[in-house]
Amino acid sequence: MISYDDEVKLYETAVGMLQRSYAPYSGFHVGAALLCADGSIYSGCNIENAAYGPSVCAERVAIFKAVSEGKKDFKAIAIAGGPGGKVKDLCPPCGVCRQVMAEFCDPDEFVIILGDGEGKLKEYRLGELLPLGFSARNIEQ
Ligand code: THU
Repeated sequence: MISYDDEVKLYETAVGMLQRSYAPYSGFHVGAALLCADGSIYSGCNIENAAYGPSVCAERVAIFKAVSEGKKDFKAIAIAGGPGGKVKDLCPPCGVCRQVMAEFCDPDEFVIILGDGEGKLKEYRLGELLPLGFSARNIEQ
């Protein structure tokens, strides 16, 4: 569990990352902020590419930054996104990002925080957004 104050702080960090978004093709800017069990926060933004395929979502940038720095224990991620960087609605994580979350996070514990653009935060557990997800547990011998 994380406090409401921590949720707000995490979401504000995600909103701040909208400025770093590189989205010249879709014009849809996304920012993410990942809270680690040790209290550290890793941020990310979407980074697009002229060849489209190499584009990467904000959530995966944040997660990969954290993993590459030796962190693998995560509590929550906040995500903000919208056309031109203006949040108008919830920005739920894409399926690929949900799968990457499932690699590292307990589906019953990991919290995903989304903002509705009108000042309200909504929280979901990973398991709600990726029911019956496939993970390392499924391939244990
Ligand atoms: N995007 C994210 O960064 N995260 C998501 O979970 C959904 C989509 C980005 C990818 C692309 O740069 C833009 O939003 C439009 O799809």
